[in-house]
Amino acid sequence: MTRIDHKTAIVTGAGNGIGRAMALAFASAGANVVVSDVLVDDGERTVREITEAGGHALFVAADVSDAQQAENLISSAVDHFGSLDILANNAGIGGGRLRLHEVEPDDFDRVINVNLRGTYLCSKYALPHFLAQRDGRILNTASTYGLIGAPNAPAYCASKGAIINLTRQLAVDYGHDGVRVNAICPGYIDTHLGRRGPQLTPEEFEAATAIREKAAGMQPLGRQGQPEEVANVALFLVSDAASFMTGSIVTVDGGCVTTFNYGEASN
Ligand SMILES: NC(=O)c1ccc[n+]([C@@H]2O[C@H](COP(=O)([O-])OP(=O)(O)OC[C@H]3O[C@@H](n4cnc5c(N)ncnc54)[C@H](O)[C@@H]3O)[C@@H](O)[C@H]2O)c1
Repeated sequence: MTRIDHKTAIVTGAGNGIGRAMALAFASAGANVVVSDVLVDDGERTVREITEAGGHALFVAADVSDAQQAENLISSAVDHFGSLDILANNAGIGGGRLRLHEVEPDDFDRVINVNLRGTYLCSKYALPHFLAQRDGRILNTASTYGLIGAPNAPAYCASKGAIINLTRQLAVDYGHDGVRVNAICPGYIDTHLGRRGPQLTPEEFEAATAIREKAAGMQPLGRQGQPEEVANVALFLVSDAASFMTGSIVTVDGGCVTTFNYGEASN
């Protein structure tokens, strides 16, 4: 039931982390995968991994926050593989560890533009194809941070909360057209999110890693998740095994949001 043979799937932010794991999982389940990312070398590496394993993949460079690039991504997928069936809006960035009064307007906009506007743009250009074939699946990568108020992450929490309700809204508008729209909310997953790029020194990177590991250690399953553990659920949601699911917000978080974090008091 989780085979997606001959479907064409776009995964944004597929050069690394969760998106890379989704692209590999979709390809090994039989899909033609369009790997997209702003990082060309990383995206091309994911394509090589897929083709070396016998799968079919194409790399298209695109910044999802740019309307023209998002439109080109969708049309390139359709031109190359002849159809489009699955869109995984996964590209995302963190916003640093700051309280709202410390966040600069341009930095706030950047997080909203990549995470929320990118989801809007790619969906906008994919939906006409889904409507024409009366079938399509959108999977949005939200976050547990979209379900709760997490410390020091105002723009990120706002963007992910908006993605969650956009998911529900799209499910309502397009369900009668055969389009299913769901979201996953990963918890602490072992990727380089928020630690990518030149902004962190090696010491700051180590410190950020330590904070994440400590926070993850206090959750019910007591560890960070691996990208493949999120990709397994993503594959289920875009496959026919989830044929009666739309508007669902699925946590993949090691139990993060099921309870209070009791910390020291739990011993
Ligand atoms: N890692 C976690 O703990 C975690 C938790 C919850 C949600 N998420 C979400 O999962 C998704 C994937 O994150 P990840 O943890 O794999 O991070 P990551 O940084 O390893 O991968 C994200 C990828 O997105 C790409 N990207 C960034 N901006 C882009 C843009 N404008 N256009 C296209 N691609 C762009 C990056 O180049 C990178 O390859 C994000 O939406 C993130 O918010 C991650």
